[in-house]
Amino acid sequence: MIYSRITGTGSYLPEKVLTNRDLEKIVETSDEWIRERTGIAQRHVVADDESTCDLAEQAARRAMEMAGRRPEDIDLIIVGTTTPDQVFPSTACLLQQRLGVHNGSPAFDVQAVCTGFVYALGVADQFIRAGSARCALVVGAETISRILDWNDRGTCVLFGDGAGAVVLEASDKPGVLSTHLHADGRYENLLSVPRGVGRGYKDMIAGEAYLQMKGNEVFKWAVNTLGRIVEETLEKHGLEQSQVDWLIPHQANIRIIQATARKLKLPMEKVVVTVENHGNTSAASVPMALDEAVRDGRIQPGQLVLMEAFGGGFTWGSALVYF
Ligand code: COA
Repeated sequence: MIYSRITGTGSYLPEKVLTNRDLEKIVETSDEWIRERTGIAQRHVVADDESTCDLAEQAARRAMEMAGRRPEDIDLIIVGTTTPDQVFPSTACLLQQRLGVHNGSPAFDVQAVCTGFVYALGVADQFIRAGSARCALVVGAETISRILDWNDRGTCVLFGDGAGAVVLEASDKPGVLSTHLHADGRYENLLSVPRGVGRGYKDMIAGEAYLQMKGNEVFKWAVNTLGRIVEETLEKHGLEQSQVDWLIPHQANIRIIQATARKLKLPMEKVVVTVENHGNTSAASVPMALDEAVRDGRIQPGQLVLMEAFGGGFTWGSALVYF
């Protein structure tokens, strides 16, 4: 039996920081409102000459260093992103070139918005279990700041840029126990960026280039769906909540994280929370939180970690992983 195991983690945040006080100068909002409703204190945003691939490269190099892996060892690259550098080549192909991976192995992006990393991990796990790859680089990287309407206080205060990565390797010992991926395409009107190359590109109105969200409704959906996906994951393995050492939720909003933890009767001490420092970084949020908890020693070898995410599409998913 072949399993996949996480052997290295890495993350990267761009240098430039926008605090809530900075946002008070851009839109009608307040530090108090943002902290109370979201738990966010600041977010990092890319400089004009920085891109998603730049962030992905830094996170990937850190994960490879931890795993002790060189470019020639990597035989699969999957990048979860909604904000690729270009329409094509994929960010994964750009990253392959940057890292000097020249062995002809596959590289592609998956687009599942905030669930992008969990989707990418699920796909990489299948490749490894099937014997089609032995050492995958799985990345979540976003420059969401580029698709925000900086006049819309209902969305621009919530998001930030960043990247997280893992090295996933074939092993005869269980690492990833299972991944659970879902989507329901009926809720496009609640969360989307309507602009694309296929629809309305000639008559585009300005706001359609940016993220649009009915925050209240998305909030309810997120809490219900994240509760269900955790239950589905634990039920598959006959596990109780108390057997999970760490929950790594998508870092969208502290109130969504707390409501999910309450619903699942998981004490907050077992939940990794990083949203205060960088806001919602979409596909980057789960691997960045994972990296923080691995590097500060919270996650220890042999522990059971449950990751979950929810995003536009709607998409949602989870991964249950032994470290
Ligand atoms: N600063 C100050 N006031 C703001 C504001 C801001 N940044 N954004 C919205 N408001 C105002 C609204 O205009 C509204 O004013 P009104 O009552 O005069 O109309 C009031 O605050 C309440 O708005 P509401 O949308 O009901 O607030 P909320 O408690 O639902 O919080 C969100 C709004 C966006 C923080 C919350 O709905 C949320 O987090 N949703 C989920 C978003 C998310 O995580 N999406 C990504 C999922 S992957």
